Amino acid sequence: MTNIIEIENLSKEYETGFWKKKKTLALDGVSLEVGPGQIFGFLGGNGAGKTTTIKILMTLLFPTSGSAKILGRDISEVDMHRRIGYSPENPYFYDYLTPRELLAYFADLFGHDRSKSKAHIDGLLTKVGLDEKDWNKQLRKFSKGMLQRVSIAQSIINGPEVVFMDEPMSGLDPIGRREIRELIADLRSNGTTVFMSTHILSDVEALCDEVAILRKGKLAATGKLDELLVAEGRERTFEIIMKSISKNELENSLSGIAGMAIEEHPSGVTVKVIDENDVDKVLAAARKLGGRLISVNIVKQSLEELFVQETA
Ligand SMILES: Nc1ncnc2c1ncn2[C@@H]1O[C@H](COP(=O)(O)OP(=O)(O)O)[C@@H](O)[C@H]1O
Ligand SMILES: [Mg+2]
Repeated sequence: MTNIIEIENLSKEYETGFWKKKKTLALDGVSLEVGPGQIFGFLGGNGAGKTTTIKILMTLLFPTSGSAKILGRDISEVDMHRRIGYSPENPYFYDYLTPRELLAYFADLFGHDRSKSKAHIDGLLTKVGLDEKDWNKQLRKFSKGMLQRVSIAQSIINGPEVVFMDEPMSGLDPIGRREIRELIADLRSNGTTVFMSTHILSDVEALCDEVAILRKGKLAATGKLDELLVAEGRERTFEIIMKSISKNELENSLSGIAGMAIEEHPSGVTVKVIDENDVDKVLAAARKLGGRLISVNIVKQSLEELFVQETA
């Protein structure tokens, strides 16, 4: 499996202020590999360095040091950029163009045949869920959500092998978000790799296969989402909820289970154990005591807990 994106030891220092005397280290030695055919979530709070990274990959910014490859080619190789797509964080388009005109402009840039590109463009506008009545409306009359859709249409106009989306869900209402989510999932189904930055964790949980968490310009964690959530030291636990039984009764018959916790609640108890085999022991003991089982749940660490741990 060859990597679609390879980032090696990337750093970026911004020079700001009078005489450029003040320096901000926005990226600090970030290395990252992204495999094909997945939705990769690039997470981090405000100012973590997500946009800086994506802009460097798009060659809109020079890195201070380090290098990166996309599709096996150094990012300085111009031809490679024809095979990728990019939807910026706050899409800004010339206000007086219509979506059809804007996309025709981009189709021209990619050297598409004009006679074929009209049908292609209408297909894209349909795909991103833009109402046909808006296709000939000037972009200055568009809401943030509508502009986001146009931006995504623009980013996939060349049938890219990998698309970079910087906060594609920002500014969208819940319905718009769900539609864009479906669109991104469709891209993956068609074999496109998606690299998306976001701070909206529910979208990450719904969409992403792997994630990287950026914290103040450094990589705090990276890996498969489900593995990160049950990684060492943050084990999943089993939660057994029972009725008609008291904490004392149960505690007396269940000595010696490592890591067990019993809590009393108004109608019974909740028992937490770490080892799956202990679930049976708890159930057997409870049955003897006449307790009634309500539920057994696996409690995984939520992404939010992980995110807070890694960024705090
Ligand atoms: N053009 C710039 N000039 C100076 N500092 C910048 C510039 N762009 C971003 N920064 C700083 O770099 C850091 C990372 O910003 P950014 O990449 O936009 O983060 P994110 O996209 O994760 O919110 C922040 O501290 C930000 O203030
Ligand atoms: Mg950003």
